[in-house]
Amino acid sequence: MKAIELRRKYIEFFKKYNHKEIPSASLIPENDPTVLFTTAGMHPLVPFLLGTSHPLGKRLTNYQKCLRTDDIDEVGDAGHLTFFEMMGNWSLGDYFKDESIKMSYEFLTKELGIDIRKISVTVFEGDNDAPRDETSAKIWESLGIPKERIYYFNKKANWWGPAGQTGPCGPDTEIFFDTGKPKCSENCDPSCDCGKYLEIWNNVFMEYNKTEDGNYEPLKQKNVDTGLGLERATMVLQGKETVFDTELFAPIIQKCKDLARENYNIQSGRIIADHTRASLMLLLDGVRPSNVEQGYILRRLIRRVTRHLRKMNINLEDIGIIANTTIDCSKEMYPDLEKNRDELIKLLIQEKDKFIITLENGEKEFNKYLKHADSENTKVISGDKVFKLYDTFGFPPEMTEELAQEQGYTIDMDTFNKLYKEHQEKSREGATQKFKGGIADHSEKTTAYHTATHLLHKALQIVLGEHATQCGSNITEERLRFDFKHPQKVTPEELQRVEDIVNEQIKRDLVVTCEEMSLAEAKANGATGLFENKYGDFVKVYTIGDFSKEICGGPHLDRTGDMGTFKIKKEEASSAGVRRIKALLVKEE
Ligand code: ALA
Repeated sequence: MKAIELRRKYIEFFKKYNHKEIPSASLIPENDPTVLFTTAGMHPLVPFLLGTSHPLGKRLTNYQKCLRTDDIDEVGDAGHLTFFEMMGNWSLGDYFKDESIKMSYEFLTKELGIDIRKISVTVFEGDNDAPRDETSAKIWESLGIPKERIYYFNKKANWWGPAGQTGPCGPDTEIFFDTGKPKCSENCDPSCDCGKYLEIWNNVFMEYNKTEDGNYEPLKQKNVDTGLGLERATMVLQGKETVFDTELFAPIIQKCKDLARENYNIQSGRIIADHTRASLMLLLDGVRPSNVEQGYILRRLIRRVTRHLRKMNINLEDIGIIANTTIDCSKEMYPDLEKNRDELIKLLIQEKDKFIITLENGEKEFNKYLKHADSENTKVISGDKVFKLYDTFGFPPEMTEELAQEQGYTIDMDTFNKLYKEHQEKSREGATQKFKGGIADHSEKTTAYHTATHLLHKALQIVLGEHATQCGSNITEERLRFDFKHPQKVTPEELQRVEDIVNEQIKRDLVVTCEEMSLAEAKANGATGLFENKYGDFVKVYTIGDFSKEICGGPHLDRTGDMGTFKIKKEEASSAGVRRIKALLVKEE
């Protein structure tokens, strides 16, 4: 059975049980700005799981495109993907455990004919937040799953949600397919990732709401939210060993083999197949490569494809051939891929071209590190250098590691991981705060730097020209860092003028005001900002006197007068065509 038929069968089955079909939503969540991507079919349904009544009733079904980046390192094994499709059925305060489990059982064993002896299930073992789920275990037993194939696990394994920071969640029961591989050890069970057990379906009993203070309160209604992975189920039905052996990927893998010949590498082939498909689907949903948020994930996916092509000595221009084959594999399921084929491939190639430039600069930088290591008499490239290559040139650490190994060096991965984690936490905090509109934890100092950043942005545009737009911004208690487009070094005279203009606005003690308006209005009002990143229908626009107007989550000072003196400390290249300024606000005591 092909994936597209399985999808159809699923929807028909649940329609038979009075579910109404709803469309697949965009990969970019429309109503939940706390997450970057739609990671499950329930995302668009959050308000209805919380109790709003759905116009189509209490039983819904669909197939939903999803993207998950938390499993990105596992892409390359048999069943992990970044982009995948989840088929789902929902009860909004209608049926609960009994009917849900029975329908799943019937669909798998009767409709699809999967041998029940190959099915194992897991249920929630219980904790302070919710009781042990013996109800589900009993239902499974009544359907013929013997006790020894029913496993109790803790919250980490058998609890799902919320999808963002807060919202509907609950204990789940997960259905695993036994691939027939031998157990990797005596203790091998469905929680093991050796590949013997493959999770195919998850039925979540969403009866809790996780609140901001981390508590679980009962929801008004008991819901069911399920997700059956289309690619994995297809693989099981076709008796294939990996998702990459199904019609969704096999031709892409073959193309990689043809192009790479003796340099072919299984893992690289799989990463290319998965990431190319995910990149095309993101491009199709309007994401464009950038240095922030969704755009940055897309950029990394494309870079990883580029690197793995290079690793197998495939001509980088052939990314177009790979993308064409990928579209051929998926066009039946996503006809818009075919409609937009040329445009999507053009965008993919453009981004690959950009990376070649940083790739070369990064390699130059890397060679400097080797010389430095030699002068220090060591064969280890330090973690902060690996991080710099990652942060500035977009080199994934494993790529730096490979480069190092070729020359007989190693890298300090532990330190890199530490720095990376710190960086991630910072950006997560940053993202959370932005989405909250900046109500949390902003000191006076960082607030002042936010406002100074707007002044700097405008001043740069006055001095250098309108092309000098923001590419990135990073604020700490100590300084601001601002990346902007400009093709060459900013001269000392220009920097002085920028500094003077900012300080003049500070002296003028301008009033800062904030208004909420639609994105269209903001644009019409001449506000600057990252329009391609839509955070919701309404955005905040901060106006600083007659000087600047920018879309931003804030927070900002009320007036510019009290922020101190603005001093540019450094101007340097950040990446191709992008300059970076570091600046301070100094207060004379
Ligand atoms: N929302 C559940 C999941 O993603 C079904 O596993």
